[in-house]
Amino acid sequence: MADQIRVLIVDDIPETRDHLAKLLGFEADIEVVGAAASGREAIQLATALAPDVILMDINMPDMDGIAATEQLASQAPMASVVMMSVQGEADYLRRSMLAGAREFLVKPFSSDELTSSIRQVYTREREKQSRIAVQPGGSGGSTTARATGDDRENAEPGRIVAVFGPKGGVGRTTLAVNLAVAAATELGQRTCLVDASFQFGDVGVLLNLNPKNKSIADLIPELEAGEVDSLDTFIINHSAGIRVLLAPPSPEMAELITPGAVKRLLESLRQSHDLVVVDCMSSFNDTTLAILDLADTVLTMLSLEITSIKNIRLFLEVAQQLGYGADKIRLVLNRADSSLGIRVADVEHSIGRRVDHTIVSDGRSVVYALNRGVPFFLSNREAQVSQDVLRLASAVAGARTADAGDTSRKATQKKSLFAWR
Ligand SMILES: Nc1ncnc2c1ncn2[C@@H]1O[C@H](COP(=O)(O)OP(=O)(O)OP(=O)(O)O)[C@@H](O)[C@H]1O
Ligand SMILES: [Mg+2]
Repeated sequence: MADQIRVLIVDDIPETRDHLAKLLGFEADIEVVGAAASGREAIQLATALAPDVILMDINMPDMDGIAATEQLASQAPMASVVMMSVQGEADYLRRSMLAGAREFLVKPFSSDELTSSIRQVYTREREKQSRIAVQPGGSGGSTTARATGDDRENAEPGRIVAVFGPKGGVGRTTLAVNLAVAAATELGQRTCLVDASFQFGDVGVLLNLNPKNKSIADLIPELEAGEVDSLDTFIINHSAGIRVLLAPPSPEMAELITPGAVKRLLESLRQSHDLVVVDCMSSFNDTTLAILDLADTVLTMLSLEITSIKNIRLFLEVAQQLGYGADKIRLVLNRADSSLGIRVADVEHSIGRRVDHTIVSDGRSVVYALNRGVPFFLSNREAQVSQDVLRLASAVAGARTADAGDTSRKATQKKSLFAWR
């Protein structure tokens, strides 16, 4: 049958494996391709069977589900992990999130919860891949001439604004692109947009650019060697007024980008730009951490969905452990007016702090712009969503925080955070 979701079950208890396989056997669009009894076996089977989704138990002998998930990120990057955990294991949930799991199911779960989680992560992953596959071949509205007149020779280093969200699909790329355009066109900031969603970056799709021509992948050897001489050669000057460094053209190249390389890249970019906007991935790995550490401001995006709110709560705890000051993290509620039964006040109550910025939902402007490869900030400048983005751009373009660059304290805290793994 076409389009079946290939699922690998990983659990050390044979009865659980059988039970899950039976439940999934009733679903026409899901095929169980294998079952593993340990983390190690899961990795072997995942590389051999190429499943779309891996249902992963946390507690297993030999290698547990969290360690296996971490390894799968590099050995089977196309597979999305759905972690299964028993109630009360909040710490496990947090560690799973850091390891890269895409969903969590708390045992006992219903068959509906199981199948809808599998479908959701599969659809989300497939959408990302197809958006990359259908992007136009040319370099679209870009010009590739080297930027001239870098009049920032003796200027202060620019600000680094990371657009982050511990849950995928919350609007990070949409905001990052339009924020950069707003800062460049309305605030006169020399702005560079970096697609740091290194595996499945979408910035090229939104700006009608092809990473095959130029991307961060071309800079990896230089970044590793510590001499970033040809940065300008691989940054695209886009007709929207911004400069863009795209993510690699294929997901496996993401592994080659180290935290040290990212740090060197951003340090170098901030010397030649007023503003560096970084579209981060949602998985909280060591490269993301390097970006967040270096950022002056972390725009942390959330939506009015219970899973998004849960992840924000977890992220705020982690941010506190990392020593990020309260001003560094700015909460941005996207699609703030969508009425889904959760109110902004409920969100604020649940996470214990106020939302700093809101952006309205405007499917028409956003999707129209997406399909044309032109940022909505340019195609629909008067829309409320554009005004919200401009307000946010004005706020971050002027804001600096005291704790950016305080590396020694954070280095110690980071070590203890990753000692969990
Ligand atoms: N304010 C908005 N109003 C309406 N639609 C929006 C808004 N913001 C984002 N969207 C839509 O939501 C979807 C997800 O947005 P986007 O790709 O920017 O999210 P993301 O967090 O970068 O996702 P990913 O995890 O895939 O990187 C897109 O279809 C986008 O058009
Ligand atoms: Mg994105």
